[in-house]
Amino acid sequence: MTSLFDAVSVGSLRLPNRIVMAPLTRNRAPNAVPTPLMAEYYAQRASAGLLITEATAISAQGQGYADVPGLYGTDQLDGWKRVTDAVHERKGRIVVQLWHVGRVSHTALQPDGQKPVAPSAITARTKTYLIQDGVGSFAPTSEPRALDASELPGIVHDFRHAARHAVTTAGFDGVEIHGANGYLLDQFMKTGSNHRRDDYGGSIENRARLMLEVVRAVAGEVGGGRTGLRLSPVTPANDVNDADPQPLFEYLMRELAPLHLAYIHIIEGATGGPRVIEERPFDYAKLRETYRTAGGKGAWMVNNGYDKALAEASLAKGADLVAFGRPYIANPDLVERLRRNAPLNEPDKATFYGGGAHGYTDYPALA
Ligand SMILES: Cc1cc2nc3c(=O)[nH]c(=O)nc-3n(C[C@H](O)[C@H](O)[C@H](O)COP(=O)(O)O)c2cc1C
Repeated sequence: MTSLFDAVSVGSLRLPNRIVMAPLTRNRAPNAVPTPLMAEYYAQRASAGLLITEATAISAQGQGYADVPGLYGTDQLDGWKRVTDAVHERKGRIVVQLWHVGRVSHTALQPDGQKPVAPSAITARTKTYLIQDGVGSFAPTSEPRALDASELPGIVHDFRHAARHAVTTAGFDGVEIHGANGYLLDQFMKTGSNHRRDDYGGSIENRARLMLEVVRAVAGEVGGGRTGLRLSPVTPANDVNDADPQPLFEYLMRELAPLHLAYIHIIEGATGGPRVIEERPFDYAKLRETYRTAGGKGAWMVNNGYDKALAEASLAKGADLVAFGRPYIANPDLVERLRRNAPLNEPDKATFYGGGAHGYTDYPALA
């Protein structure tokens, strides 16, 4: 039986265990530049089989929250290089999550106070995070404008460019494309947020087009073996919904299979909430089967509400990797704690978004 503590090859990477740190936005990067404190935070967690960074904007337009990091400026890349060096010194592996928020943004966060961009001009009934006069607060997202089809190659280019610099300049071991949680690529995929009438809206093939263009571009740039993709077929996060997600995501799996990606990362159910949503049924086993039958060889990573027992049960059913989010906020030595069946520290929600070392780098490791 496969254990969480067994090594595994994932694309170009060899992981010493199957425990992954899920991407976690922490809003501690003023001016979008990663800090030395962030280097310490990730280095503390380097015993994970794989670290996935917090979502990181590929462009100024892709920004949607205060003090989240970017990958599009020299200072940002230098800041990330300090992070990857610190993780590599501790013998860890780290990939960066590439992010364009689409409509989940605010004019205050956009270049020249412009409207955020989206597949269609439909406001997301959700909140973003602003910091004004040093005080953080959640604010409703701004009304977006629909992207013109002529702008989409620029967005594909931004993903590709960010991926290249992530690997060549910032020292990352690979990238994860953020295709989940109601951000730009997920907005294009789903019927609730995409009402377009051009080649990027309507049919399944059209709604999946931008996602696939981005994945092909990024994999073409840094290699499929250094590219992962995160998806959340039924999450209601950030006000997304699709009328019929099963065939949509199965189509995507068939198209992804030949790209030799390192991994497919699936959030099961509502991100951070119920793993099963009654009114949004989804067959994850069938999704994986579709990918495998189409020849997909990437590792299958699962996430959402996992503990050790559930993780091992999932490995027994064919998953290859399990990503832990909230447990990693509070347990820098999660691998060792799971190995020893030691109690876990509870994360403090008040320090999730914004702040300094408290609730970030001061959670205790086992003696
Ligand atoms: C504070 C916080 C920040 C998060 N930031 C991100 C993010 O940047 N990118 C992402 O894909 N998911 C993000 N998530 C979702 C987590 O990666 C994960 O899917 C979720 O917490 C469920 O996993 P868990 O039950 O192991 O915590 C975040 C969750 C939390 C609690």
